[in-house]
Amino acid sequence: TRIVVLAGGISHERDVSLRSGRRVADSLSGHGVEVELRDPDATLIPFLRESRPDVVWPALHGASGEDGALRGLLEFAGIPFVGSRSESARLAWDKPTAKTLAHRAGVATPPGIALPREAFRELGAASVLESIADELPVPLVVKPAKGGSAQGVTIVDDLAELPRAMVDAYTYGDVALIERRILGTEIAIGIIDTGDGPVALPAVEIVPNSGVYSFEARYNAGETSFFVPARLDVSVAARAAECAVAAHSALGLRHISRVDMIVDADGTPWFLEANVLPGLTETSLLPQALEAAGHDLGWVYAALAHAAIR
Ligand code: DAL
Ligand code: MG
Repeated sequence: TRIVVLAGGISHERDVSLRSGRRVADSLSGHGVEVELRDPDATLIPFLRESRPDVVWPALHGASGEDGALRGLLEFAGIPFVGSRSESARLAWDKPTAKTLAHRAGVATPPGIALPREAFRELGAASVLESIADELPVPLVVKPAKGGSAQGVTIVDDLAELPRAMVDAYTYGDVALIERRILGTEIAIGIIDTGDGPVALPAVEIVPNSGVYSFEARYNAGETSFFVPARLDVSVAARAAECAVAAHSALGLRHISRVDMIVDADGTPWFLEANVLPGLTETSLLPQALEAAGHDLGWVYAALAHAAIR
């Protein structure tokens, strides 16, 4: 089986993707597959048409990797690939849309408001502050509606900080999502489906030293403590896993995803987002969950590739 692992690309998460792709390629080697690592550019489609790999393993984060654009191209070219189809990727990549679909599937999600940059400009900061104050109590989390790795994300404890947080979010895209901050245990649940239906991996509990799971806390070893499985009551963990699978299925995701949630003091898991291509670097969550569950990374990544070909 010949696999082309795509990594890099043009997105705010390019460097993370290069690390994920390298680790996927390294893990795959020795599993009876031939692996080539490639940074996608305009020559990608001609390259794929000529070299005809059996399957593409997109280890691309951020726009183009997770927004469905590149996946649409692969579909158009008739090349099998690991992970969600373009349409589901598009839904999951847009956090307000993903929240709506998760909510409809019976999964709690923090109340939030999505505000386009143009609306912010027209209404002005003062009136936005006023209407947010009426609808959402602090603390809040402000983030780009589309983004990853906590880039452009700000925790707002004092409403006066909101306009600046929104401007930061707009540097990553045209829509900012303002959400109520749920306090509790931050967890991530990886989902794997090698053909027999989605299976939730053990929840990973995230405890950043700084208190905030920022970009730095994600990709520098030692900046965050992880507990796998998360230190949750068995019934709470089971409920969280159920919600993660429900969100994955509601979005129509395929093969692999990671659902990020906060479990509050009452044991309710609140959906934050579903990642179409979760980080697969040395410090990332899903590989930790796979290893904790006793899986060999390369074996699972190869099984996903075979599932994509079938
Ligand atoms: N967006 C990063 C890669 C993650 O979700 O892990
Ligand atoms: Mg994400």
